[in-house]
Amino acid sequence: MGAASVPRRFEWQLPAALIVLSVVPSAAGIARLAELARGATITAANARFFAMPLPAVLHLITVIPFCILGALQFAPSFRRRHRGWHRAAGRVLVACGLVAALTGLGMTLTYPWPAGDGVALYAERLVVGSAMLISILLAVNAIRRRDFVSHGAWMTRAYALGMGAGTQVLTHLPYFILVGTPTVPARAVMMGAGWVINVVVAEWVIRRRVSRVAGVAVPALS
Ligand code: HEM
Repeated sequence: MGAASVPRRFEWQLPAALIVLSVVPSAAGIARLAELARGATITAANARFFAMPLPAVLHLITVIPFCILGALQFAPSFRRRHRGWHRAAGRVLVACGLVAALTGLGMTLTYPWPAGDGVALYAERLVVGSAMLISILLAVNAIRRRDFVSHGAWMTRAYALGMGAGTQVLTHLPYFILVGTPTVPARAVMMGAGWVINVVVAEWVIRRRVSRVAGVAVPALS
């Protein structure tokens, strides 16, 4: 990222916003982990997690560091000043991202659908999980070739897809407040909207970054 063109006082705004976006899914993950650790009455809402806890536990212990470490990678001057940190955090991020995507796909394929899920959301999860996995593999391949621009672009895409979990809180909120429990199609639309919004923002961030490196001004996304 062209750190020189981002004023220092603004560079923490994006990481801070991403950490805020991670709060609800991380808290939900910690609550589910606590429930699995101490046991609970088996209900229709939690039976699948108790019947097959391993993918859920692996998912939840990797998504939280993925969200937090990923957010910190978006502070350009911090990254440039602490290259060792960026590399070490990047390795953890790649490992966590791969496990998060694989276990997300595994749960999609093996868990019974909870109330509110349907075929459209099932398909969305298969597409998003696969796209996240492929993006991380392409990012690793790019860094092996020392193609830093392509590496950054693919990690940004993978992070955006993973962070759909955060944006989906926002896409659901108005519906929950105004209407109540979503129908199966409404849930598929709101979940899909979370991923689509993140992909659009990621492409905008990548485009801005590439243009800054090339020294070309980019019009703001309207
Ligand atoms: C990296 C960011 C992600 C975060 C923060 C996150 C968060 C969570 C949380 C908190 C749960 C537990 C939900 C509960 O206890 O009811 C969960 C479950 C799940 N996640 Fe993720 N997730 C992420 C990425 C993904 C991806 C990329 C997929 C793609 C397939 C995915 C698929 C799933 C599935 C299928 C479940 C089980 C849903 C259920 O049966 O209720 N997740 N995730």
